[in-house]
Amino acid sequence: MAGRLEGKVALITGGGSGIGRACALRFAQEGASICVADIDLAAATETARQVDAAGRKSLPVQVDTTNEAANDVMVKRCVEGLGAVDVLVAAAGVGGPRVPGSDSYQPYTVLTIPMEQFRRVIDINLYGVLFSNRAVARWMTENRRGGSIINLASIMSRMPSTSAAYSVSKAGVWMLTKCLAHELAGHGIRVNAIGPGFIETPMTAALREDAARSRWAMSVTPMARYGRPEEIAATALFLASDDASYFTGELLHPSGGVFVG
Ligand SMILES: NC(=O)c1ccc[n+]([C@@H]2O[C@H](COP(=O)([O-])OP(=O)(O)OC[C@H]3O[C@@H](n4cnc5c(N)ncnc54)[C@H](O)[C@@H]3O)[C@@H](O)[C@H]2O)c1
Repeated sequence: MAGRLEGKVALITGGGSGIGRACALRFAQEGASICVADIDLAAATETARQVDAAGRKSLPVQVDTTNEAANDVMVKRCVEGLGAVDVLVAAAGVGGPRVPGSDSYQPYTVLTIPMEQFRRVIDINLYGVLFSNRAVARWMTENRRGGSIINLASIMSRMPSTSAAYSVSKAGVWMLTKCLAHELAGHGIRVNAIGPGFIETPMTAALREDAARSRWAMSVTPMARYGRPEEIAATALFLASDDASYFTGELLHPSGGVFVG
């Protein structure tokens, strides 16, 4: 049986770890070629090796998504190496910074966070997504091709977390997704976001190791367990595929029921 992304090319930022890697492997199983982009080239190369092992074409690319020109180069390399870009998953991101030296998970407050730390989160989580979205959408529109753009937002897009910089960045990703969805609908480009709950990846390692904060995370999650990166990849696959052909500008929450009410 043909895969749901047979013949497609997916570009995945943050593809070297966690949710991005899970998307790369799931999309490859469904027939896609994968350009794995990450600031960590060794990690991207390892994901690419796993895609190759699944019998699909891969291309690891090093990129710092906060650098707009580097995003243009990333798209150029993807198109030169794999022929196109049909799907973007913008998963490169960082969590909120923690106060250095503290034993337990200790985020800064709005009043105490050093401004360069706040800016770094916004640079990576918001400008990085904007730059990768622009680079891909420009290629798609110039080449008159439709496509699917999927941005990693968060449950924190709609709730104030103890790490304000993170929530602010993810709220920005949500609105950016809607603005682009509106702007690109006429070009056959769908733009959606995923807002996961608490997922077992390196990003949440410190949170999961802190008993008190982990208890809090589970107390706001009715299913009372962490999600797996593969469960987010399944949501991304839906949004990337033709099954989501009438979805644009949406924010889907695979979160174990955080917003159940
Ligand atoms: N894990 C969760 O619980 C969770 C929940 C909600 C949203 N998210 C979001 O999902 C996305 C993926 O998170 P994850 O949990 O897989 O994290 P992760 O730390 O496992 O992976 C993030 C990847 O992004 C890469 N990266 C960081 N900065 C980069 C940059 N400037 N340029 C290129 N690559 C860069 C890292 O090298 C890493 O490989 C992030 O946007 C995160 O905010 C995660």
